[in-house]
Amino acid sequence: MCGIVGYIGRRDATPILIQGLKRLEYRGYDSFGLATVGSAVEVYKKAGRISDSEAGASGLAGSTGIGHTRWATHGEPNDVNAHPHIDCTGRIAVVHNGIIENYSDLKRQLTERGHTFLSETDTEVIAHLIEEHYDGDLLAAVNAILPLLEGSYAILAITENTQRIVAARDASPLVLGVGDAEVFAASDMTPLLEYTERVIFLEDGDVADITPDRYTIYHDGRVVERPIELINWCVEDARKGGFAHYMLKEIYEQPQSFYETIRAGIDDHVRQMIMEADEITLVACGTSYHTTLAFKYLAESFCNLPVRVEVGSEFKYFTPPLRGLVIAVSQSGETADTIAALKMAKARNCPTLAITNMQGSTVTRVADETILMRAGPEIGVAATKSYTAQLAALMQIINLRCDGAFDDALSHAHIAIGDVLLQELHEAVDLCAKAEHVFFVGRGPFYPVSMEGALKMKEISYIHAEGYAAGELKHGPFALLTPETPVVAVCTPGPTYGVMASNIKEMKARKAPVIALGVAGDTELAGFVDIFIPIPNTHLLVQVLTASVVLQLLAYHTACALQRDVDKPRNLAKSVTVE
Ligand code: F6R
Repeated sequence: MCGIVGYIGRRDATPILIQGLKRLEYRGYDSFGLATVGSAVEVYKKAGRISDSEAGASGLAGSTGIGHTRWATHGEPNDVNAHPHIDCTGRIAVVHNGIIENYSDLKRQLTERGHTFLSETDTEVIAHLIEEHYDGDLLAAVNAILPLLEGSYAILAITENTQRIVAARDASPLVLGVGDAEVFAASDMTPLLEYTERVIFLEDGDVADITPDRYTIYHDGRVVERPIELINWCVEDARKGGFAHYMLKEIYEQPQSFYETIRAGIDDHVRQMIMEADEITLVACGTSYHTTLAFKYLAESFCNLPVRVEVGSEFKYFTPPLRGLVIAVSQSGETADTIAALKMAKARNCPTLAITNMQGSTVTRVADETILMRAGPEIGVAATKSYTAQLAALMQIINLRCDGAFDDALSHAHIAIGDVLLQELHEAVDLCAKAEHVFFVGRGPFYPVSMEGALKMKEISYIHAEGYAAGELKHGPFALLTPETPVVAVCTPGPTYGVMASNIKEMKARKAPVIALGVAGDTELAGFVDIFIPIPNTHLLVQVLTASVVLQLLAYHTACALQRDVDKPRNLAKSVTVE
């Protein structure tokens, strides 16, 4: 939630900060702001999207600056609550990602001591606290106030008359980019791709003192060396490349991202960990939770491996008895609930593995081992290629436990994924776009596929959608079936084909229009549903992927038909760093 960016060097800071914030907009996009060290600390901030009012920032001067794009937590999105926040004197400016949990106590104390607050945010206390400790040394002032803060933060602070940024991190991500006589700071690597491939992932508790020519990192008051790592993404990966939306581009990238994740394989330590596990617990949220549920169905049936899956937000407060390997699945690697669950598993001495798309992210530091997906940057808020790349990583675990039985299916899956990208969906899109409610149903691994189809539909089209195990619909939701309520059913050959076909007929008997995904050539199924969408007749593992991709496209085209803001749906952010 929220993205922060900083620049210090010889160039004009404003265009670099604006460009960086645009790259981070997926983290929050209700308001944005910048501050630079010009003749004084110059601030520009605005509610709404960057592209709507970035021109207003063009007057900010200076080659040192900080910026912020917001997903509101404390105080509604408006110009005043937008970051940066300044102290009473206007000499200090701060941007912050995270939550200061004790901010109301701090605010009361600061007000009693005469400070005037302008915003409703938690962040503003940081600027006023720094003000109280600032006597010309920004680093000393930041160091003095950090022990007063409870909660999570990635902070960048500047003051007038000084070419210096002080950065601090605790439980919110912060990356430094090292250039030639210039240094960048950002919530993740995407704003840095244009400028440098050399990055430093700060650790919790680190404070960095940054000038154009040098950076010094402190931990517990002592200077520490943090390794410079090379980014494994390139700037082209983060561009829209002629597609109407990032989401469409990312859907189309799935043959490659799936293939690359399979090709990267699993290293020996992780293999050993997986082979030694006699039980696996997976923790995740949202779309990532759906991949873990699909894994459960597939791993339990193919490798007879007991698997339990837990939603991260529940796990922390209702931790089940734990045995065996615990895997945290998170494309961003920064989801607060998933991280909390992972830490609980560590505290219970379970071996832990992270599956993530984000090099250097928090889950990679907390977990014992990591499988890094090769999806590249995913900018669209709705997860698409990261979802199938997670499945690639999880299916490799299944393949490993089954002695390579699925080598062939997995190494050719990208071809089938490519085939369904061209699937004609007009009729289905027209039906869904007119609907107020849409149900998605499937059995076995197609139940989580349906949940994911429904999540995609609701988050980007704003149509109410529910994913159900197909047999469950008649236990209540049938009451909602009408001729205007489409049901999207996944029905492919296998042990549940017959019962699934009966379920579809029951829905048809209630006059609900049925859109069915079945294997190409299934004329029987095509004969009794309203709209038939063929997917290639492949191995079950591959059908899980192709059906998912078709449902992504259905959601995407429906949202476009309704003229929704596909890449930045309302109220959402891609990286959910609050509980
Ligand atoms: C939906 C979506 C979210 C995320 C969830 C977890 O399209 O992207 O539901 O899956 O917020 O995020 P990660 O995977 O980053 O932990």
